[in-house]
Amino acid sequence: MKEQLDLTRLPAHVAIIMDGNGRWAQKNGYDRYVGHQEGAVSVRNIVEAAGEIGIQYLTLYAFSTENWNRPAEEVEALMSLLVTTIHRETADLMKNNVRLWAIGDLDRLPPLSRASLDECIEETSRNTGLNLVLALSYSSRWEMVEATKAIARQAIEDEIKIDQITENTISEHLTTAGVPDPDLLIRTGGEHRISNFLMWQLSYAELYFTNVYWPEFRKENLYEAIVDYQKRERRFGQTGEQVNPKS
Ligand code: FPP
Repeated sequence: MKEQLDLTRLPAHVAIIMDGNGRWAQKNGYDRYVGHQEGAVSVRNIVEAAGEIGIQYLTLYAFSTENWNRPAEEVEALMSLLVTTIHRETADLMKNNVRLWAIGDLDRLPPLSRASLDECIEETSRNTGLNLVLALSYSSRWEMVEATKAIARQAIEDEIKIDQITENTISEHLTTAGVPDPDLLIRTGGEHRISNFLMWQLSYAELYFTNVYWPEFRKENLYEAIVDYQKRERRFGQTGEQVNPKS
């Protein structure tokens, strides 16, 4: 599959909804937690693959605002997995020149998870390869509410005129300010939903759904998604002739 990739036309930003950890565990007779542990192995594999082929941004939906409503033991297990994974992987992120970012309501994270995250973000902040963005305690509606409040405050303070509000104003107030919109969204686990993920930013993304559960998703599956993406014609609301004029 890797040979079929056109490295000159890679998506600059790939976003992934990593779904199916629980069902993979159930299918194999394990506790849900084992599904998340194996999911962390897939994260490592996909970060490596994305860096190797030269993707610039990879955003992973690791924990949604809604995930706080899961049973307390599962939330705690996911938070401690985050800490152990970050500790284990920081050296390799450095070796592979990966820069870590995080988006979401990070103030809700337990102090230990937050501290490990901040430490890794700081340590990798001078890396210039793949930008790995973890969406943690993130939801699109939360982000849009926060952006709206911030813009409203600026309007009240007369720092911005209402008629000056543009699409750019909104983009600049989202947690992804400065990050190009995703070109490709992958969702594993067989569901066909966006689930409150990057709803503004995904406006023109190509959507790719696979039945593969996240703990089984590996480099080959990523290449397959990108090959599929490269077969599509992105028209951004224009006609095929406009975006691909015949000479
Ligand atoms: C969805 O599967 C997955 C999650 C809610 C968590 C994703 C977390 C990881 C992949 C592990 C660690 C990640 C990092 C960045 C260290 P699900 O539990 O909703 O699966 P189900 O739909 O089959 O129940």
